[in-house]
Amino acid sequence: MVPDIGRSTARTTLVRNFLEDRILSSRSGSRERLPSSRQLADELGVSRNTVVAAYQELVSEGFAEAIPRSGLYINREIARLLAEGRIPENQSDAREVGSMRATAGPESRPQHTRYEQDCFPDLRKPSHWADVPYPFIYGQIDEATFPVAAWLRYLAMALDKPHRRFSLADRAEEDDPLLVEMICRRVLPSRGINVHPSMVMTTMGTQEGLHLIGETLLEQGSSVAVEDPGYPDARHIFYRAGLQLQPVPVDEAGMVIEDIPGGADMTYVTPSHQFPTNVTLSIARRQRLVDLARSRDLLIIEDDYDSEFRFQGRPTPALKSLERAGPVLYLGSFSKLLAPGLRLGFLVAPPELVSEVRRHQRYVLRHPPGHLQRALALMIADDAYGRHLRRHRTILRRKWQAMSDGIRTLLPVSPVTMTGGTSFWLTGPETLDADRLAAEALDAGVVIEPGRAFFLAPDAPANHFRLGFAAISLEAIGPGLATLAHLIEVSCHRRGLASPL
Ligand SMILES: Cc1ncc(COP(=O)(O)O)c(C=O)c1O
Repeated sequence: MVPDIGRSTARTTLVRNFLEDRILSSRSGSRERLPSSRQLADELGVSRNTVVAAYQELVSEGFAEAIPRSGLYINREIARLLAEGRIPENQSDAREVGSMRATAGPESRPQHTRYEQDCFPDLRKPSHWADVPYPFIYGQIDEATFPVAAWLRYLAMALDKPHRRFSLADRAEEDDPLLVEMICRRVLPSRGINVHPSMVMTTMGTQEGLHLIGETLLEQGSSVAVEDPGYPDARHIFYRAGLQLQPVPVDEAGMVIEDIPGGADMTYVTPSHQFPTNVTLSIARRQRLVDLARSRDLLIIEDDYDSEFRFQGRPTPALKSLERAGPVLYLGSFSKLLAPGLRLGFLVAPPELVSEVRRHQRYVLRHPPGHLQRALALMIADDAYGRHLRRHRTILRRKWQAMSDGIRTLLPVSPVTMTGGTSFWLTGPETLDADRLAAEALDAGVVIEPGRAFFLAPDAPANHFRLGFAAISLEAIGPGLATLAHLIEVSCHRRGLASPL
């Protein structure tokens, strides 16, 4: 059926005019919140798409502005001009003021970009981290552990017949079938997931998966519940896709499912090792989340980025493996298992969603490089990947043990029990300023990550920090922790505290 474009445009104009009148009649002088697209669609009896399109027009003309994590508001400057009676009564003149405002853009936005730069912090890693003696950095690997010889062998093999055409051909409509088969047969079953190849598509890492989901499966203005503290990159991706963020607190059992707001359309969760706290989502909460998703038609994105690295107890099943889970969108990554620079991951979703998402990928980057896909497929098929994984896990287990022991005996932090992952989330003395500590530590040759950037709340505590251990060598862990302990002690003494805890 051909959509009735004329009729939907007319409806958008009506909604837009309705909102414009509402904005122009405001005299509060403050940045007033506008109703959500869902609320207004219900109120006016039109579709949310229509309301979202109307809002988009108003935002582009400078009448309204979207505040990440919060919603849509009357543009601050328009509100002020209205209160001062300096805005013309006549709507077309008012529109001119609005569009001038839109051209000028908010103060924080550089010319020619759509996004506010400082909506929430970026995670920044010191560029010279590899040359620092004690890099407790997260999300990087120790180059010495990468299976260079094996990877070179499979890259070469992927250029031999009969693999060559899979490496070199343009393949926008399907992934390398061998890689998809290997993911289905060798990677997913260890997470309790058994799916048909039509449910799997390769991505250039989880970040691309999140981007594809954000761009294709939800309307702009839809809301996504995110863990707080949580993964800043996911927030940036959703924000850029025009989604509203709804923070949900995290405690020692993971995301507090009861606090997922009623209006959320999707929830993004890291159940195996919550990012950044590393806690595991409890079984009871998993069930609750699945029940909630079913009863409210809530999409779940499960980011299972490092579940293989479990050092105590048994791995918890993936949410996706729960029969009743419905359409969980599962994201897997080879960044932690092999290397983040390879940019390889995958999405598991119902086939119709995979087709939709693949169409979008095609018009962005076409497809992940065929050569990398085939080399990885061959590596998994030969079990060189399995051997690497087992060796890598053993190395990480030793480092994890050294970290646990060192943290317990050396650092003045709250006791932690961590079952896995590649980092420790630590809580220092209440007076600790982890941003300052991180800067001082870097001067002393120690890379740590201050915790504030992981929170959405502007008044987030300053005494959390994270120590990654995948990139640092086993031998450097002890001296690195001792140096850090000394720095914390000095920092706390400077603040007049005899005992840091
Ligand atoms: C929470 C989380 N998800 C996913 C990933 C992996 O992302 P990608 O596959 O894009 O490298 C990471 C890596 O740091 C992560 O921390």
